[in-house]
Amino acid sequence: MSSESDALVFFGATGDLAYKKVFPALQAMVKRGHLNVPVVGVAKAGWNLDQLRERAKDSLEKHGGLDPAAFEKLSQLLGYVDGDYQDPATFDQLRKALGNVKRPAHYLAIPPALFETVVGHLSKSECGRGARVIVEKPFGHDLASAQELNRFLLGVFDEKDIFRIDHYLGKTAVNNVLAFRFANTFVESFWNRNYIDSVQITMAEEFGIQGRGAFYDQTGTIRDVVQNHLFQVLSNLAMEPPVRLDSESVRDEKVKVLRAIPPIEEKNLVRGQFRGYCNENGVAKDSKTETFATLKLEVNSWRWKGVPFYIRAGKDLPVTSTEIVGRFRKPPSLLPDSVLTENHLRLRLNPEMTIAIGMMTLAPSADHMELQTGEMVASHSPRADEMEAYERVLGAAMAGDSTLFAREDYVEEAWRIVDPVLKKSTPVYPYAPGTWGPDEVERVTPPGGWQNPTGAESFAIAGQAA
Ligand code: BG6
Repeated sequence: MSSESDALVFFGATGDLAYKKVFPALQAMVKRGHLNVPVVGVAKAGWNLDQLRERAKDSLEKHGGLDPAAFEKLSQLLGYVDGDYQDPATFDQLRKALGNVKRPAHYLAIPPALFETVVGHLSKSECGRGARVIVEKPFGHDLASAQELNRFLLGVFDEKDIFRIDHYLGKTAVNNVLAFRFANTFVESFWNRNYIDSVQITMAEEFGIQGRGAFYDQTGTIRDVVQNHLFQVLSNLAMEPPVRLDSESVRDEKVKVLRAIPPIEEKNLVRGQFRGYCNENGVAKDSKTETFATLKLEVNSWRWKGVPFYIRAGKDLPVTSTEIVGRFRKPPSLLPDSVLTENHLRLRLNPEMTIAIGMMTLAPSADHMELQTGEMVASHSPRADEMEAYERVLGAAMAGDSTLFAREDYVEEAWRIVDPVLKKSTPVYPYAPGTWGPDEVERVTPPGGWQNPTGAESFAIAGQAA
């Protein structure tokens, strides 16, 4: 691992992402004693440093809470450069603000259209020397644009100094999938094609597009959360144990999962759009962008060939929860198939972190062979002092640890899988807000059906008579 960055520069300091995620992450890093270097915000807002401090304070009050001592320390670390990203003078000012800093980390919390401009100026000015660059998603719009962006970035920085953010990789629950699989002997015995019949991943969001119409309409569910966040979850579920724990050994295994997945076929995709979406600000009146998608993938590896993986994600669904369900094959029982429910492994990633095994037992009051289904559940609600995803990934990038970031080849493989079907004009079916998507979902549904996550975990625990 290379040396710690001695400054953090964040472009887009007055923007939405900084407001919702970056300031809370910075305060948390200070509070934990993990941030003690200059933090320079850059934006074109005609502001001064005091205004940026005010903005930071406001952000913390709304997102996670202000900690007076940590905020005071953060305020002292904060600097601000106001200027146009097109103007070389902005980068001269930045260089001055950085003083003797030798290994700055430049975080591009800005729209992707500006990445090349900013990186170009970083490279021409002295700001890029010895630096790292942290790039926000979306990384490209399709395979060609991702390849082009990679080429451009690699012309300026080494791969080891490029950190492509996918904040899902900073989530405790997403990393817990690996801990569960590789720190427990018993999991290996069943987590493969010999025992598992299908795997489904649902990322449901109860809310709509929250005023992000202009961004969302250019993006859609597949680009927004499937190609990145949910493929990372899928990689954690399907990868082989790494042979070493260094970043490249881990990332090698993840990219192998994607290499084993053929491009999605049209027949294995259903896109939906919630009714009323076209009336949102920034959305085209005749938009064909999806706010919901369900798709089926094959992972043609030794471990998984023949086991279908299903992904479902959407806005304006009945609950907010991300959940994985792996269904087992049914046992060769003498009981009729109709009374047997498949065992399952359920991994809930949010709002709580849950590991549950679904099984059949004899119903307590049964006077004959009457069965009931139930779950053995281990669940944990996040504590207030747990590390949030942005805190974890920003800290890792500043430390030069690439494990929690998408590598060049990974990003391109992920686009390879979705690119062809995104280029086709597949139909988009309407669905009522607050439902589990359009009726056409039927076509791309796991054997035994979708298991819908519940809003509150306690409802999912109770056993039911079969
Ligand atoms: C973002 C997407 O990357 O991830 C959003 O742009 C989505 O549309 C969000 O809501 C989900 O992440 P989290 O951490 O809020 O569950």
